[in-house]
Amino acid sequence: METKKTMDRLELKHLFHNLFVFFTIVSFSSSVHGVSEAVGYGYKLKSVSVDANGKWLTADLGLIRNSSVYGPDIQNLRLVASFETSNRLRIKVTDSGHERWEIGQEIIRRQSQFPHRSLPENHRSSSAKYQGETQKQQKENYYVSDPTSDLIFTLHNTTPFGLSVRRRSSGDVLFDTSPDASDSGTFLVFKDQYIQLSSSLPQGRSSLYGLGEHTKRSFKLQHNDSLTLWNADLASANLDVNLYGSHPFYLDIRSASADGKVSAGTTHGVLLLNSNGMDIVYGGNRITYKIIGGVIDLYVFAGPLPDRVVEQYTQLIGRPAAMPYWSFGFHQCRYGYKNVSDIEGVVAGYAKARIPLEVMWTDIDYMDGFKDFTLDPVNFPKDQMKRFVDKLHQNDQKYVVIIDPGISVNSTYGTYIRGMQADIFIKRDGYPYLGRVWPGPVYFPDFVNPRTETYWAGEIKMFRDFLPVDGLWLDMNEISNFITSPPTPNSALDDPAYKINNQGIQRPINNNTVPATSLHFGNLTEYNAHNLYGLLECKATHAALINVTGKRPFILSRSTFVSSGKYAAHWTGDNAATWEDLAYTIPSILNFGLFGIPMVGADICGFSRDTTEELCQRWIQLGAFYPFARDHSEINSIRQELYLWDSVAASARKVLGLRYCLLPYFYTLMYEAHKEGTPIARPLFFTFPQDIHTYEINSQFLLGKGIMVSPVLKSGAVSVDAYFPSGNWFDLFNYSNSVSANSGKYLTLAAPRDHINVHVREGNIIAMQGEARTTKAARKTPFRLLVAVSSTETMSGQVFLDDGEEVEMGAEGGKWSLVRFYGGISSSGDEVFARSEVENGAFALSQKWMIDKVTFIGLENVGRLTGYELSSGNNKTNLYANPIVKARLDKNAKF
Ligand code: NOJ
Repeated sequence: METKKTMDRLELKHLFHNLFVFFTIVSFSSSVHGVSEAVGYGYKLKSVSVDANGKWLTADLGLIRNSSVYGPDIQNLRLVASFETSNRLRIKVTDSGHERWEIGQEIIRRQSQFPHRSLPENHRSSSAKYQGETQKQQKENYYVSDPTSDLIFTLHNTTPFGLSVRRRSSGDVLFDTSPDASDSGTFLVFKDQYIQLSSSLPQGRSSLYGLGEHTKRSFKLQHNDSLTLWNADLASANLDVNLYGSHPFYLDIRSASADGKVSAGTTHGVLLLNSNGMDIVYGGNRITYKIIGGVIDLYVFAGPLPDRVVEQYTQLIGRPAAMPYWSFGFHQCRYGYKNVSDIEGVVAGYAKARIPLEVMWTDIDYMDGFKDFTLDPVNFPKDQMKRFVDKLHQNDQKYVVIIDPGISVNSTYGTYIRGMQADIFIKRDGYPYLGRVWPGPVYFPDFVNPRTETYWAGEIKMFRDFLPVDGLWLDMNEISNFITSPPTPNSALDDPAYKINNQGIQRPINNNTVPATSLHFGNLTEYNAHNLYGLLECKATHAALINVTGKRPFILSRSTFVSSGKYAAHWTGDNAATWEDLAYTIPSILNFGLFGIPMVGADICGFSRDTTEELCQRWIQLGAFYPFARDHSEINSIRQELYLWDSVAASARKVLGLRYCLLPYFYTLMYEAHKEGTPIARPLFFTFPQDIHTYEINSQFLLGKGIMVSPVLKSGAVSVDAYFPSGNWFDLFNYSNSVSANSGKYLTLAAPRDHINVHVREGNIIAMQGEARTTKAARKTPFRLLVAVSSTETMSGQVFLDDGEEVEMGAEGGKWSLVRFYGGISSSGDEVFARSEVENGAFALSQKWMIDKVTFIGLENVGRLTGYELSSGNNKTNLYANPIVKARLDKNAKF
């Protein structure tokens, strides 16, 4: 390893030693509904076995007595608790007598080291231990833990039995099904179509985030939140109702405990891996899941910090897909572009206004009769479209189109004919299920069927052969259906006994989607597979695009599930052009970072309703810092391209200018997300977990660990109230106006109409490039380093470099370089330095990339800059080649 690193450095030296590079050192002074029965209901332990190493446990459970609602109880359950890794505990409870639906290995990647279905005989040796033993022994609890884990699982030998998970280090209880006074013994109910699981939470010490997809006022879940998970096409302008995706995952950050054993910021995560419809009731001191099928497959991630939790979560479900470099440019879309000259005019409008435009999009308007993989022969004819896309490509721009899952039922339509021949549509009563979407009558491809992947890839290939689009936008994949078909009479699937709170008013689960009695491949019911549709469509599309293009795919999906981030980006759906919706985009985007889908954005300037000049200006100021930045609007609203108002255009140039300078930073965050799962846009508590004020923040976020965005979210406001966690912060537009917060403070900052507050914190080293109108042009500008000097902390940062579209990002043997930067102040206090370490230098070598400028900011906090030198004493060299740059300071001369 060491030899390799040394070699890389030598290669870089070789590259840079005869390049002329100038360093500039710049100093700036600058009410639960469900089962609630009397005590006595529940399950008791029948037998327990613990493996010899104490790492897993299996228990057979027997029903104590039946409960009266939602159908008969399952008599015998099998519980398995196991440490899959030292950071991940899995607790699975299922019917020991019959197989039930559960999400298969092929859907969510699992790294299971433990056979959860059946136990090998030699692991059952101690199973008889419990039966027939004395009363005293029966009262003993059972424990499992991995010696390297901070988690301990306890099976409580009570009647009914209970389970809990706590930390070894502090005793903090993370999950505990023990009944309390308000909820008498109903923590576990297990029926065919109703499962209830409930855990207490420490009153006032636990802050929960996640459990989407919903639009919420507050990022932190509020006591008495009730969260329904059932994928539905409901505009995201609707608060608190189940939206397009389902993510039964939450992150729980704890405040300090009174006994001082738990320090503030200690965090764990919990996933209930289940695809069935559910309500999750969060009462502040209790969380209760009410699920209409499947099994209990619960994972607890040990953390103990927020970023570690997401790392551990994405280790299980799969790390986020790498997104192409170009996808970090600015995107323009609209539902309602009329024809080719309309979209040409938009591209020209951006060029004329000198606003960066990377990707032009087209909504369903381009299709012939809204049929997938066709072009409208009148308004978007083939030859014109081809010329349009070729021209975009010549200008280093990209083109993305929408695809909906519904295939028009039309016997003259090739995609339909081939689908029928391949027999890949979802069926009901033996025939393809007939729904209705934009084209009228449609059938829906069944992505559970392995043949569908081939069919879908074929359609994508044929389409791309005549129109080489750069990415695909997968809409309406909840599945959205304009009709609601009548339920099958007396079907418990179409009309289950427990009504989840679908759409906030207990709408039938079949409402405007494919009926639950419909069948997928292998007789898998829509009832069980409903929430997986978008995920499986993304998976098939991802494979197809790699196959067809040989490049890294870009897919934007509206519907998502656990692990969709492996394939796709997401936008938050149909918001409205209102100030409220502008604000709600922050919690929504932060949630998707937790869900392992870091490439996420919201429709900039608002989708439905007419935007206004001021709203659009404020929205692009914020949207320029979304991981995925796209302006999109609805057909009935006024046009809202950024060049349409002078003030908006000026702001767009300013904020997108900064975004494009930060592209290397955004892209490096993509790399970190891809490798470790950490979100691109992060809550403040990711960097400041010990600062409990950050737990409440809804209106600010971080990019990576050190850049903080504090937008204006109110009409007429020209100042913004922002929270600054401790440290020195510098305005990223002008490097002045530094904010010094000793222990974190709320401040009111000036925010005139043309300004958004974006700050970089001391200790961060950010690699930047220059402004440009395309990402390709930006990539050709010189690199510079911004070093936010800290007198008390190590300064660090990194930049990941590759060609931006290689299928794998940072893979072994791939063409990439990673440069890590470190900075510090010499022990004598009279020198500040920055140095670099390069991994895999060959790629940077081939690109002739260099850093030609190093900017130190924040020197006023450490002393006056009196000069600088490179370690070689030669100022005409590159930081990579001679990786130390030092600035001399007079530490006694304060500004
Ligand atoms: C619904 C999507 O959410 C929206 O973005 C799109 O414009 C319309 N469908 C029309 O395709």
